[in-house]
Formats: sequence, C-alpha cells, structure tokens
Amino acid sequence: MLVAIGSDHAGFEYKELLRKYLAKKDITVIDKGTYLLEPVDYPDYAAKVGHSVANNEVDFGIVICGTGLGISIAANKIKGIRAAVVSSAFTAESAKNHNHANIIAFGSRVNTIEEVKEYLEIFMKTKESEEERHVNRVNKIQKLEG
Ligand code: RB5
Repeated sequence: MLVAIGSDHAGFEYKELLRKYLAKKDITVIDKGTYLLEPVDYPDYAAKVGHSVANNEVDFGIVICGTGLGISIAANKIKGIRAAVVSSAFTAESAKNHNHANIIAFGSRVNTIEEVKEYLEIFMKTKESEEERHVNRVNKIQKLEG
C-alpha cells in the first residue's frame, strides 16, 4: 500500500509518529512535509497530498493540522478529492464506507495519537460500500465538481 502524508506545524509531530507507525507495517509512506516545526500554511500541504491522491500516485492520503478542519477544507478544493475529518471510530468507518473518502484528516488538538492510530486502522480496513444509495450519493458529490 502507498500513502501520502502531510501536515502543517500543528500536525507535524503526529505526522512523524504516523509515518513511523505505518512504515513498521510495511506501508510505503510518501512524506509531503512539513519537515520542520516552523509555522507554515496548511493549504500548501493539503495541495501536495491532494494532488498526489487525485493523480493516483498513492492509494489514499492522510492530512493533519490542529483541528483537521482547515487542511481538509483546502484538500476538498482539488477535483477528485473527498477528504473527511475523522475524530471517532464511527466517523472513521463512515468516511470510507459511506463517503468513499480518499483522504483522512486528523486534528492533533482534538484526538490523542493513540486514538488517531486506532481510527486510521479502522479507515484502512473498511471497504467502500457498493450499496446503490451510497454509490449514488458519491456520484452526486462528483457532479458538484462540474
Ligand atoms: C494552526 O494554528 C491551526 O490554525 C491549524 O493547524 C488548523 O487547526 C486550521 O484549521
């Protein structure tokens, strides 16, 4: 499995921990930055991960900022991206199953790193629902992109 990961300064520490966590599981992680704790702008890293996912260079993306909000809002501006902020086991499962999310977003000021790892595991093992109602709704999201 191939994953792109990116964060701003607020998500930097979690990005580093997740990168190492995934590498131990034999998942190839492409680190899109940030690489330092210096303040940066989250849209820049949303764009790097988002384009990588939209261009099918990776299987999915992970983005992290303080809340998961700004970086997911920015990623969702890229055509083909469905970035979902996840903050519970339920939203982790629904993001993949119902929404066919291709980017998972976390808030380092919202959840502990242990929670984030748990939600990431749920997201990775959950399948996209093939039920017509869910597929139809995801198709309608795509139509909104024009
Ligand atoms: C940075 O302080 C913070 O605003 C950012 O990480 C994020 O939470 C924005 O949505």
